[in-house]
Parts: sequence; structure tokens; C-alpha cells
Amino acid sequence: MQHWTKEFFIDKDKLWLQFLNVRWKYGARDARAITKILKKYGIYRGTILELGCGNGRISINLAKMGFKVTGIDISSLCLSDAIKRAKKKKIKNVQFIPGDMRNLDTAIRRKYDVVISIWTSIGFYSKQTDERIFRNISKSLKKKGIFMILSTMSREFLLQHFCPTAYEDTGNFVVMFKHHFDTFHSTVENKWIFYKKRNKDLTYIDEIDFKFRIYSMHEMVEMAENVELEFVEAYDSLRTLKPAKSDSHINMVFRKK
Ligand SMILES: C[S@@+](CC[C@H](N)C(=O)[O-])C[C@H]1O[C@@H](n2cnc3c(N)ncnc32)[C@H](O)[C@@H]1O
Repeated sequence: MQHWTKEFFIDKDKLWLQFLNVRWKYGARDARAITKILKKYGIYRGTILELGCGNGRISINLAKMGFKVTGIDISSLCLSDAIKRAKKKKIKNVQFIPGDMRNLDTAIRRKYDVVISIWTSIGFYSKQTDERIFRNISKSLKKKGIFMILSTMSREFLLQHFCPTAYEDTGNFVVMFKHHFDTFHSTVENKWIFYKKRNKDLTYIDEIDFKFRIYSMHEMVEMAENVELEFVEAYDSLRTLKPAKSDSHINMVFRKK
């Protein structure tokens, strides 16, 4: 059976792109917050790798601020949209490469000043796979390089604020979300049902089931510290950049030893 990431991000990429487009409006704000964090570590310019870059809202905005950015993603539709957007904005110091973060060691040859994983782009595979991804992230960082895992759902947040149903209006579509949290395995099983808006009516388009792992903050620290990534700090959100609370999302900063 094929993995849901292929079904969602490749076979049903047009649906996924709807979501990325809605998040674009926060791209500049989030990139500004990232640069504020990097300044604390003396990083004003340099090379950044974004894992699972989608259609480039973070990579392009960071490149606009002077960084040399590489975005990697498995979805070729998202990447071609990102390339189109960068071209339109005349941003040259960003490149987008098709690749799988599970094989980062073969996809990426150089070492970066910064690696970023933003908006719950980890936990899609087995724990062993995530551990391998962390090992490869560490290998792809220069000494004292920074790894940031940002705006990522935490177990602490979920236990406090779990919501079994929700919906989102993306403009063209309405999406119904149904979630089930398996507390024993710390996974969320999701069903997203897509409806096309036609005047006041909704027409069913498609649906997708998927499941991913929700890590607690201490597990992130453990996985990172096992691969020579030292935990340095955590924030409540990119919006406020206030220190993390007991129920924050994961906004954590690690430094390569
Ligand atoms: C939640 S999105 C985050 C997008 C982007 N970071 C942002 O903030 O807009 C997750 C992204 O990871 C990509 N992805 C999923 N599995 C991947 C893999 N194995 N290798 C590379 N990218 C992957 C998906 O195609 C999707 O664009």
C-alpha cells in the first residue's frame, strides 16, 4: 500500500496546493520572525535549507531578506508553483529541488548554516524514520549551525486543545476536518473531506485519510540530542516570539555541536 504522503502531496497535489496558498499570507511574517531568531545566533546572512518547503512561502521570503535558500519537497506541483512565484518576484537566491527528506544524505551534498522544518512537516513516517531524518539534518549542518523546528503540533498543545471536528474555507473549497487522537501511540488519525463551493451549495470533491505522529517537546529534544543537536531555546509562537509555555506548539531551536 502506498504511503499517504504520496497520495496527498503528489497524487492529490492540487487539493494540497489550496492549503499552501491560504498560508502564503503568513509567509513574510514567519520569515521575519525566523530572521529575528537567527540574529540572536549571529546569523545575518548565509545558507538555509528548508525541508518540505511546499510552494515556497518561507524559502522565498527568507531569500528576499538576503539568505541563500534551498527548498526541498516531494511535490513537483508545489515546487513548480514555488519556482513561478520566485521568478515573478524576481528573487534569484532561492532554488527548489525535488527530493525526499528521508534520503537527505543523497539529495543534498553541501552543508548549511541553518536547516528549517516548519508547519508540522515531521512525524509523517515511523519513529525510526524520523530519527534518521534528524541524523541527516545534523549531518547537513555546519558546526554551530542552527536547526529550527517551528509551528509544529506538539503533544502538549493537543492534549489541552484537541478539537475532533473543524472546517476551513480556502476560497474555492470548504474542507471538513475530522480528527481522532490515539493517546497511547500519540498519533492523530485525520479525515479531510473536500467540497467545492458553488454559490451557496457545497459539492463533494474528494477525501483523504492520513495519520501522523505527534511528538512532545521532550521527545524532540531527545531525538535531537542523540544526533549532536543541542537544545538551546523554545518559543510559544512565531507571532509573539515569547518563551514556550507548557501547552505551546513546537517552536524549538537546536545548535550543532
Ligand atoms: C505541512 S507542509 C509545510 C510546507 C512549508 N514548510 C510551509 O510552511 O508552507 C509539508 C510539506 O512537506 C512535504 N513533504 C512531505 N513528505 C515529504 C518528504 N518525504 N520529503 C520532502 N518533502 C515532503 C509536502 O509535500 C508538503 O509540501
